[in-house]
Amino acid sequence: MTQMTYRVIQWATGTVGAASLKHFIENPVIDLVGVYVTNPDKAGKDAGDIVGLPKTGLTCSNDAETLIAMDADCVLFAAAQSPTLLDTVCRLLASGKNVVSPAGPFLPNKWYPDETARIEAACREGGTSFHGCGVHPGFSGDILPLTLARLMNRVDSIEVTEIIDKVRNPMIYTEIMGFGLDPDELLANPRRSPETYKAFYSSMDLLAKGLGKEIEKVTVKFEVSKAKKDIEHLYGVVKAGTVGGQHYEWTAWVEGAPLIVYHFYWQLGEDLDPLWEAGEARYSVVIKGDPPLQCDLMGGMEADGRRPFYGLPWTGLVGATAVPAVCDAPPGIVSHFDLGVVQPRGLVRR
Ligand SMILES: NC(=O)c1ccc[n+]([C@@H]2O[C@H](COP(=O)([O-])OP(=O)(O)OC[C@H]3O[C@@H](n4cnc5c(N)ncnc54)[C@H](OP(=O)(O)O)[C@@H]3O)[C@@H](O)[C@H]2O)c1
Repeated sequence: MTQMTYRVIQWATGTVGAASLKHFIENPVIDLVGVYVTNPDKAGKDAGDIVGLPKTGLTCSNDAETLIAMDADCVLFAAAQSPTLLDTVCRLLASGKNVVSPAGPFLPNKWYPDETARIEAACREGGTSFHGCGVHPGFSGDILPLTLARLMNRVDSIEVTEIIDKVRNPMIYTEIMGFGLDPDELLANPRRSPETYKAFYSSMDLLAKGLGKEIEKVTVKFEVSKAKKDIEHLYGVVKAGTVGGQHYEWTAWVEGAPLIVYHFYWQLGEDLDPLWEAGEARYSVVIKGDPPLQCDLMGGMEADGRRPFYGLPWTGLVGATAVPAVCDAPPGIVSHFDLGVVQPRGLVRR
């Protein structure tokens, strides 16, 4: 069976972008034709050097204009959040390249009408497709529970929980998220704004629509837990009595009752009061109904007996494995519904 190949540009090589870059170098159905980097230390390096692979002969570039002008089938756009992000995505789409992006908007939704219109216009201009991807939003809270619901007779409610111990799985977000602050201060000024549910709304909406329902409203809850002692983490120390855990809860209501609840538990270890969730980092989908169902999505166990959190690499990979399907899709914004069952190519390599 001959396999079609796809010419791909990797845009930015942070944690997410490095995972997709490594995949593109190793996947025989992908022809990596460009790598955009912002970091001056990475510019001029071979793409293989960025991800610990042998030389590829392809040099990373910080020349955005040249890459935008290049011919390619698709761009995996994994840049940091910035005010110019949407401009660049639209220019890439208008230039004739499909875009798969974990950088958002995941799927434009009613909260982002201007962004939606701009992306659609750029897709029309370039005859291209845009697909927002990610582990959450993008997978754990939408296509995963929707697929699991096929094992149910009746669905009463769906809870999707992200649990991450940020001591075991250090992330740059630790300080940005307000760990170590006075609890009252953070409660009054949450770092992940309660409005953030709007970014996840596409995911909840996709799940509700997949079940033939419309969301009426989303309600928000935010609570914090306190460190019971000083907690050391990769980026510093969180003092006893300050914020050591955070729980965001977003509930989508359908027909006057909660249908979909997203929980985000981010904790620094387990010496916390209260300790909401213990154990390994995971996404947990609990569907109440007939018959009840639970599915935990977690990394494989490593030699130290632990399961690392792979949310960021998964975000790069769920986008990278969708590239052929997005390239083959008709122009416009393409969701999981438009892609159907994605058939990832080039993964089985003996
Ligand atoms: N949907 C989801 O589930 C999900 C999950 C996680 C992350 N995300 C999104 O995915 C994107 C990548 O996340 P990440 O964890 O890989 O972030 P990251 O590690 O901070 O990497 C982002 C990369 O963007 C480049 N960059 C830095 N400053 C920039 C700027 N001002 N403008 C454009 N690019 C810049 C850099 O690339 P170089 O190092 O190559 O120079 C940097 O390494 C983010 O937008 C994030 O919000 C989505």
